[in-house]
Amino acid sequence: MIIAIDGPAGSGKSTTAKKVAAQLNLMHLDTGAMYRAVALHILNQDMTKSHIHDHGFITQILDKIEIEFSSETNKIFLNGKDVSVEIRENRVSEFVSEVSAISLVRERMVLLQREIAAGSNVVLEGRDIGTRVFPNADVKVYLNADVNERGQRRFKELVKRGEEITLDEVIQDIELRDLKDSSREHSPLEKAKDAIEIDTTKLSIDAQVNEIVSLIQTNNKTGV
Ligand code: DC
Repeated sequence: MIIAIDGPAGSGKSTTAKKVAAQLNLMHLDTGAMYRAVALHILNQDMTKSHIHDHGFITQILDKIEIEFSSETNKIFLNGKDVSVEIRENRVSEFVSEVSAISLVRERMVLLQREIAAGSNVVLEGRDIGTRVFPNADVKVYLNADVNERGQRRFKELVKRGEEITLDEVIQDIELRDLKDSSREHSPLEKAKDAIEIDTTKLSIDAQVNEIVSLIQTNNKTGV
């Protein structure tokens, strides 16, 4: 069974997907973390940012990258190193939209996502799961929320992690990422026609989780 949860930054995808997966004993795959790992790897290279438009450089990077997940601990490993915390740093958030717009990167990540999910019961969260990665997913959900609310959520997370940043900067970054993610040429962020949209602006995480769990359970009973 494949559950697709898509939506913009800060819409509550990660927390919700994690809890839905835990409640129903499904695997959880955070596909944004994969793009973040690629972005981190590129940032760690000796290069200028213009390199990312160089086909040969990106091919080399992708050939050297190994991304693994531990579904028990929800950790992500980049070439054997646990980068679960590092990929959330603001320098990665600021750069990741550019990296995820590169078609070579997307092709490789989509293949990997399909490979990891093959034959399993998985909740995948991202931007293009219901439209591109698994257009035949059993349940498709599109989470959305007001940009100020999304900014507040991200801001709280970053402050907790000790980053020095203002709420305005976080909101600006989210608006810019929304624009880049939804206007890019390859698999832009968009709601699949058959996805159920949930506005999480005023919803608690538990309410979001309950709504999605009941959608999945109804789908399971009817076998739609
Ligand atoms: O969900 P997130 O904020 O961790 O995602 C990081 C970036 O990765 C986001 O700016 C868009 C990109 N992304 C994507 O293009 N496709 C996905 N399936 C998941 C994330």
